[in-house]
Parts: sequence; structure tokens; C-alpha cells
Amino acid sequence: MIPVLTIDGPSGAGKGTVSRLAAKKLGWHYLDSGSIYRALALAVSKQGVNLADAAAIVRVAEAMLLEFDCGEELAVRLDGVDVTAEIPLESTGSVASTVAAIPDVRRVLLQKQRDFKQLPGLVADGRDMGTVVFPDASFKVFLTASASERALRRYKQLKEKGIDANLEQITNEIEERDRRDRERATAPLAMASDALYLDSSDMTIDSVVEEILNLVRK
Ligand code: CDP
Repeated sequence: MIPVLTIDGPSGAGKGTVSRLAAKKLGWHYLDSGSIYRALALAVSKQGVNLADAAAIVRVAEAMLLEFDCGEELAVRLDGVDVTAEIPLESTGSVASTVAAIPDVRRVLLQKQRDFKQLPGLVADGRDMGTVVFPDASFKVFLTASASERALRRYKQLKEKGIDANLEQITNEIEERDRRDRERATAPLAMASDALYLDSSDMTIDSVVEEILNLVRK
């Protein structure tokens, strides 16, 4: 059996950083499922597809070629073009949450995500990793933090990448995206009943990683 550790939660909870560190310490593969939805958002925008045309968006999801390179930063190539710099933009995240609400898009992307499950193990980061994509995962975590803390973290993260950001705007965009992710009919953001709940508002990254690794080592 290939062990899987799922880390789900809302935007800005620190899942990306924590998942990458946990994967590195365990020596496991890493799936950043959000970047798949973000890459689809970019493909749809670049091709000028109407966001109301679900069938056309599904066709883009079926046809897109994605390549990931998991170094210090996750590099992403979409149809042979490096889109790493555009992936973290909040505008990309916003379109991602719109296309992610289309049930057939989620169905098409399901196998692409499951293909990441390979020996010696996988850390999977997203919204529905423990509920839909890997319901039989051995270890599940639901990572969250207060809304203000999450907005502040995302703001700092964008600034660090040299991306222009406004805290009030980020707060509004994150709240809107969270609402859309929670209220959608297919695979809404929700905690798996067998997940460990972690509120990271007052925790350091290292202590969150330590708690998660304790779960795996138990
Ligand atoms: O980095 P952040 O947590 O803000 O977002 P992300 O993980 O990159 O995901 C971007 C968007 O993709 C989310 O707002 C979700 O709408 C969607 N998503 C999803 O529906 N299911 C996943 N497993 C991962 C992301």
C-alpha cells in the first residue's frame, strides 16, 4: 500500500508551505492540486474561453498538458510554456475557483491527481484531497487559520514574490473565493470526518509540520 497524507483547508492556511516541507522530510512526492486548477484557469484565460461556457472549459481541461518540477519552488509548464510566475496571482486563484466549481472539470482532473500517488508516498494539498481524491488516505489533516491571519499571510507571500498586493483587496478576494469553495455543489471545501483539525493561527510553520509528522510517525 502506498501511504498518502492529505492536507486540506481554505486559502492562505499555509497548506502549500507545510505540505512541501512535510513531503521533503518524509521523502515523499508532492501534489499541489490547486496549481492544477490554477493552470486550467490560465489556459482558459489565454484561450479567451468564456467562463460561462462549461463545455468549452472541460475541453480545455481534457487537452491541457501539464508538467511540474518540484524544486525549491514548484515550477509549472502549461502546454510547453513556463507559467510559474502567473500561477500565484490572486486573479489566477479567482478564475481557478470558478472553473473548479464545474463538476465535469473535477471529473476530468481526478485521474491526473490520482496519478501522483507513487512509492514511497504522497503528500496531497488541496480542498478535497481527503474527501474525494484520496478518501482512503492513511493520514488526513484539515489545516485552517483565522480569516485575517490567512489574508495577511497571502499578502506577505505575494509581496515576497515581488507581486503588487493590497491587503484589503486580498482579504475581500480570499473571502469571496472561500465562500465559492464552500458553497459549490461538487466537492465543496469540507473537513473529512477522519481528519485531524489544526488551527495554525498562533502556530509557527515548524510546529505545524512537527504535529503533522507526529501523526505519520505514530
Ligand atoms: O493557494 P490557495 O490555497 O489560495 O489556493 P489553491 O490551493 O492554489 O487553489 C486555488 C483554487 O482552486 C481554490 O480556491 C479552489 O477553488 C480550487 N481548488 C479546488 O477546487 N480543489 C482543490 N483540490 C484545489 C484547489
